Amino acid sequence: MFERVVAFGPGRVNVIGEHTDYNDGLSLPFAIEQGVRVSAARESGGEIVACALDRGEQDRFALADPPRGAGGWRAFVRGMVVELRAAGHPVPAARLEISADLPAGVGLSSSAALEVALGLALSALAGVPAPDRMALARLCSRVEREWVGAQTGLLDQLASLFGQAEAALRIDFRSLAIEPVPFQLGGWRLVTVDSCEPHELSSSGYNERRAECERARVLLGLDSLRDAAPRDAARLPAPLDRRVRHVLEENDRVEQAVAALSAGDYVQLGCLIDASHASLRDLYECSTEAVEDTRARLQRAGVAGARMVGGGFGGQLLALLAPGAAAPPGALAVCPAAGGRLLETCRR
Ligand code: GLA
Repeated sequence: MFERVVAFGPGRVNVIGEHTDYNDGLSLPFAIEQGVRVSAARESGGEIVACALDRGEQDRFALADPPRGAGGWRAFVRGMVVELRAAGHPVPAARLEISADLPAGVGLSSSAALEVALGLALSALAGVPAPDRMALARLCSRVEREWVGAQTGLLDQLASLFGQAEAALRIDFRSLAIEPVPFQLGGWRLVTVDSCEPHELSSSGYNERRAECERARVLLGLDSLRDAAPRDAARLPAPLDRRVRHVLEENDRVEQAVAALSAGDYVQLGCLIDASHASLRDLYECSTEAVEDTRARLQRAGVAGARMVGGGFGGQLLALLAPGAAAPPGALAVCPAAGGRLLETCRR
């Protein structure tokens, strides 16, 4: 039994394969070095006291019945406590201290990073094995849907939990097979750049896009859009035809990106990143003026490829830089890193 534990959940970057996860498609994300740390210490009494150190904010609630209706980071903490207990995992009274070296609300999955760190910390503190990583990913995703109101897929949680150093993950969301794809870029680099437009999934067009895909699926009479063919898209009314085309072509780009990485063809990888952005902008319609301005600036600076990452509607862009190219101002270098883990465990 531990008195105190510290767990870490990394954020993620998605090389390519956006808005495919909830359509049983393909993606190629990796966990990054930056993320969220949760330090959890046992407390007497029946409460959780949670402190967001970087914000100077606190939440305190009864373990037995966390009230609903909290917004922001509090919803994740309360949701994780309830969902862990509902899945049969004991959660002890605890004081939680949360800190991050990952900006929140910019599309690098600070949400999944927080959920993963909480899940690992609370299970370790309870002295029980954490749920297996696939089950934990699903549990975290339930928190997003039912406590935060974002109808997300499993991309962020799987990347945060299964991340590996020096590898991106080819994830097939139909079979949930996860294959590491060696990711050593030689002298090339990936960076993220902020569009300075805040991005929040629950209040953006994200849920609407997901609902459009669902409508398209029902109209086509398919189990999932993974089974759609290009000619199916043409049978649908606008804008559903464009949404389906994006999903199909994006799945295909993931396979091409895996091949480009395996062949060390980074010029081709840059072209695929650009094509993904164009599709997200024109077919999926989840870009914004601030994202387009940022991308135009990156292109003028000569990057080898640039696109929005994550759900879109603001947030960060991912840019591929050729050897020797200068990093744009404010850029954050990202490279594949290990998935969520315990950093410290301390017995009395
Ligand atoms: C967000 C969601 C993911 C995924 C991406 C888009 O990051 O949390 O589930 O849908 O958007 O690819």
